[in-house]
Amino acid sequence: MTAVIGAQWGDEGKGKVIDILTEHFDVIARASGGANAGHTIVVDGKKHVFHLLPAGSLHPKKPIFLGAGMVIHLPTLLEEIETLEKAEIEVRDRLIISKSAHILFEFHKEIDAALETERSKGGASIGTTKRGIGPAYMDKAERRGIRMGLLANFNKKELQVELNARKDDIQKRYGVSLNTDQECDIVEKASSILASCIDTDVIPRLHASLGKRILIEGAQATLLDLDHGTYPFVTSSNTTAAGALQGLGFPPKALTGVIGVAKAYCTRVGGGNFLTEVTGETGNRLRERGGEYGATTGRPRRCGWLHLPDLQTAAAINGLTCWNITKLDVLDEEDVIPIGIAEKNGKPVYKEMPGWKTSTVGVTSFDALPKQAQDFIAFIEKETKVPVSLIGTGPGREQMIVK
Ligand code: IMP
Repeated sequence: MTAVIGAQWGDEGKGKVIDILTEHFDVIARASGGANAGHTIVVDGKKHVFHLLPAGSLHPKKPIFLGAGMVIHLPTLLEEIETLEKAEIEVRDRLIISKSAHILFEFHKEIDAALETERSKGGASIGTTKRGIGPAYMDKAERRGIRMGLLANFNKKELQVELNARKDDIQKRYGVSLNTDQECDIVEKASSILASCIDTDVIPRLHASLGKRILIEGAQATLLDLDHGTYPFVTSSNTTAAGALQGLGFPPKALTGVIGVAKAYCTRVGGGNFLTEVTGETGNRLRERGGEYGATTGRPRRCGWLHLPDLQTAAAINGLTCWNITKLDVLDEEDVIPIGIAEKNGKPVYKEMPGWKTSTVGVTSFDALPKQAQDFIAFIEKETKVPVSLIGTGPGREQMIVK
């Protein structure tokens, strides 16, 4: 069993390594988070951004598990299934959704937006994706969430009563009006399409797959983890390897490989401290060369340099067995490549490595990399004590060094 886990603030390019790896696995699983994630995939020559289905879903016939740790916005899931099925990639006959995953309702999204507006008045908005993630997990932690098991045995009346009972409180607390009819219609439609995908016996079923090769697609990333990330500027789920096991219900000993994915530089969307952030011309250059705009929200990402202590933390927390360093080619034009190695008086301390000033786009062998790029990779290996096994040299699936 292998997990692919982001080591920074998300958007490291996990989708590509997953796409490459999937053919070597039998089962694909997603453990936590919701439609705050975004990966761009190309179906029939057309680009689509997927938020809930794992990127590996593109590979036909492989079973797809959506774990108990997820919060699922039903219209988004239905749309993604429809997109794939229109392209003749059957999904429903292999989609297994834990009955314990939570439903993310429209009112969760509205509460998310209301809370962000409230926080921004105090100047401290988190910059969430406004996909309702925090409020859905609030309901889960408050033990009043409504779970996917409902779809298997849908009773509209019961849901109406439950939602109506919350209406006044939600209006009073957040100024959000809960539209019971709309919410019920969404669940009813989803139930008619997805009932057979809801697994009420998911743990035995998951465990029956333990002898198979299972690929867990991490969502978000280590620095956004609710416990270990840059709190409060984090997401509301556990994004680490341990969180992935918890979200699915696998035992820790089942995990044999953890691939940490990190960009050769660093980006962040939303608020919160970013020690090695660079603004101005250099920041803009990284953003444009790296195409750093959010797949979910379209927001320009904040850009900066690699921060080694974060990689060391991610290696330790997740028990990384190897790295995939992505987007090396984005640094091709840099004269000097700073790497944050420490913090002093709130400022980063950099080790400056010489740039290679030559194109690495599409390079597929480590030996063919310029010496300076090899040294850059070797430095990451040495300082994190984790081998770099995969190096991205462009957006295409073939633009990858397997070391
Ligand atoms: P939320 O998950 O929408 O509540 O957002 C909380 C923080 O996590 C914000 O800074 C978001 O920008 C960030 N975030 C959530 N999901 C992702 C992701 O998939 N990639 C990058 N940032 C994310």
